[in-house]
Amino acid sequence: MEVLIRANAEAGCILGAKIIARVVREKPNAVLGLATGRTPERLYQELIRLHRDEGLDFSRVTSFNLDEYVGLSGEHDQSYRYFMRETLFRHININQARTHVPDGTAADLHAECRAYEEKILAAGGIDLQLLGLGRNGHIGFNEPTGSLRSRTWVKILSEQTLRDNSAVFGSFDQMPRHALSMGIGTILDTRRCLLLAFGPPKARAVEQMIEGPLSAMCPASALQLHPRATVIVDEASAAGLHYTDHYRWIDSHKLDWQKYD
Ligand code: F6R
Repeated sequence: MEVLIRANAEAGCILGAKIIARVVREKPNAVLGLATGRTPERLYQELIRLHRDEGLDFSRVTSFNLDEYVGLSGEHDQSYRYFMRETLFRHININQARTHVPDGTAADLHAECRAYEEKILAAGGIDLQLLGLGRNGHIGFNEPTGSLRSRTWVKILSEQTLRDNSAVFGSFDQMPRHALSMGIGTILDTRRCLLLAFGPPKARAVEQMIEGPLSAMCPASALQLHPRATVIVDEASAAGLHYTDHYRWIDSHKLDWQKYD
């Protein structure tokens, strides 16, 4: 795992956007895996700026989002389809027909999950998957103790996740209990992963993901098996790590072509 420690979330998001922009410049028809949540918002703002000020072209990009709440249509202001449209898609020149978010209102949810996997395959697989990190170590909505080889499926949200995300729904009771989410197996099949985690609440999960044992107790630890996973953390979320000197050493001894900034 490549661990990049930056001073704060701002610097981490700018770096993350730079990495994604480089992928899109090198492969204009790249397939991007995208995430929602608070963590990538600043990164998306930076992608919008790069599009507006530097002509970063998304016209041939295809995207697949990680997850969607069951029961929420794309018009619901807490759906992930709505989030993506408002936070990123409508501000850049991506072809909305090539943006994919699982349909949480599908009559047959299992068929929707299978079709989602098939669409990813048909697009040639995901070149770069952006990820956030749950306080309990989840990625996508793959909660602790779930299978480390799971595929896109209906996932039951843990109580911790409901508590973390329910504020925006007004109350715990209004929050959906289920989501469609890419599985850990789906995420491990992507060609590259880029995970962002910032702030003190993520410190424990960051430590378990990077230095803990590979374990379904921390689903993100499965990224230890990924051939090309980059993790961007800030000083606060890196606070529990034991080998920060090592990560900084590696970061400062990169060959020119391995450097990001
Ligand atoms: C979002 C997702 C989740 C979030 C995670 C962190 O699509 O799949 O795994 O990345 O819950 O959420 P934030 O960024 O709000 O702390």
